[in-house]
Amino acid sequence: MNKNENIVWHPNKVSREDRKRVLGQKGLVVWFTGLSGSGKSTIAVEVEKKLIDSGRAAYLLDGDNIRHGINSDLGFSDEDRNENIRRISEIAALFQEAGMIALVSFISPFRAMREFARERAGEGNFIEVYVSTDFETCQKRDPKGLYQKNITNFTGKDSVYEEPEKPELILDTVAYDPEECAEKVYQEIIKYL
Ligand code: ADX
Repeated sequence: MNKNENIVWHPNKVSREDRKRVLGQKGLVVWFTGLSGSGKSTIAVEVEKKLIDSGRAAYLLDGDNIRHGINSDLGFSDEDRNENIRRISEIAALFQEAGMIALVSFISPFRAMREFARERAGEGNFIEVYVSTDFETCQKRDPKGLYQKNITNFTGKDSVYEEPEKPELILDTVAYDPEECAEKVYQEIIKYL
């Protein structure tokens, strides 16, 4: 949505193929979704390391970190979460257009916003990774001590989490450790490049 009708798109002279040639890879958005404490960021950190170690240009955009900067004005109402995801969808799409592998780790609880992120990235450029750790397990692990605090609008408690219907990948963090999960994601990414 554009509030200013006097803005006209300016074309550039560099194509997707040109960027691909320079970087030796195709840009991608790899979108991790799941409850707080599900293991999204732990796995995404491992995937980023694997990609960089294998000579791929990758960058992790993490909810907790981004909320310290560009999204520091946002809280956890439905409206703010939607704006949080709208902004990060746009940023991830820019990284992807620039030829990078953008790893995105946000709860992103609403299906409609994840679909927005997918559309914004474009067909064939988006991998949705559902870190499917259940509420009880997240509550038990509670790596940040947030489940034991009585936070209002907490995802899975009094704020909804809509499970992905057709993610490209589902990770089971009870059966597999972070390194094994990261390897699964890495293998999936390689198929797209
Ligand atoms: S999202 O829902 O808008 O996608 P995001 O991933 O940016 O959430 O931030 C989630 C992180 O913020 C959690 O991992 C947790 O550390 C912290 N947090 C603070 N308040 C809440 C809350 N009410 N619900 C969920 N996470 C919260």
